[in-house]
Amino acid sequence: MTSTTSTASAGHGRTATSTATAGAQDASTASEFLLAASGLHKTYGSTAALDGADFSIRSGEIVAVMGPSGSGKSTLLHCLAGIVQADAGTVTYRGQELTAMNDAKRSALRRSDFGFVFQFGQLVPELTCLENASLPLRLAGFGRKEAESRAAAWLERLEVEDVRRKRPGEVSGGQGQRVAVARALASGPRVLFADEPTGALDSLNGERVMELLTEAARETKAAVVLVTHESRVAAYSDREVVVRDGRARSMAGAL
Ligand SMILES: Nc1ncnc2c1ncn2[C@@H]1O[C@H](COP(=O)(O)OP(=O)(O)O)[C@@H](O)[C@H]1O
Ligand SMILES: [Mg+2]
Repeated sequence: MTSTTSTASAGHGRTATSTATAGAQDASTASEFLLAASGLHKTYGSTAALDGADFSIRSGEIVAVMGPSGSGKSTLLHCLAGIVQADAGTVTYRGQELTAMNDAKRSALRRSDFGFVFQFGQLVPELTCLENASLPLRLAGFGRKEAESRAAAWLERLEVEDVRRKRPGEVSGGQGQRVAVARALASGPRVLFADEPTGALDSLNGERVMELLTEAARETKAAVVLVTHESRVAAYSDREVVVRDGRARSMAGAL
């Protein structure tokens, strides 16, 4: 992991050393990475969503996955997180092959080690924001009181403690996404998967959510797989990878 001096100014703790990682997927270097994928293929009907994609991320690193709509970004994220099984290729997480695990083991790992933020918060409408944020902790076995007190601290961290008793339908898009980020980080994931997390927000709200998300991730040392098609969102990452036609390449390689 590169230790960047991330300045206080809006998440621009970027390094200029975002090269030479794509392609370094062979077994000898795999252990350097927290999460690595090699040769992923995924076909839907006649559409090759992934066509030999490689990807790797180190502990605490924030990597932006960029590319036009339909290029395979979400499919890559889903395969990396073990939500979708690739047709071919491997995903290795902390030395364990995710692609070889059974469903039960994979979902247990997802619950314990991964956090998720999607474009539309996907909060449970019937639950309050606090209940939503504490849900992963409840699923992880925490009692209601402990889960809610931890989740409340995260809502405060994301500057939305005032909406704790409201339901998702009663809060703004920006507030809802902050609750979603709080929910994703409350259980202390090693990897945060964020798919267009600000895609439904105006630019001001989007910037703030990105600032809060990346600050919190850096503080908790969570790695972030940040899918976005917007370069101003990718600007919060340490390194950019571009997906084109189902293949991921490092930004440097694409230039
Ligand atoms: N569940 C699915 N069923 C059928 N086609 C899909 C599915 N998911 C993705 N695709 C197709 O795979 C391609 C890549 O999609 P996706 O990974 O969602 O791209 P992106 O996130 O970059 O917009 C697209 O052509 C899309 O239509
Ligand atoms: Mg997508």
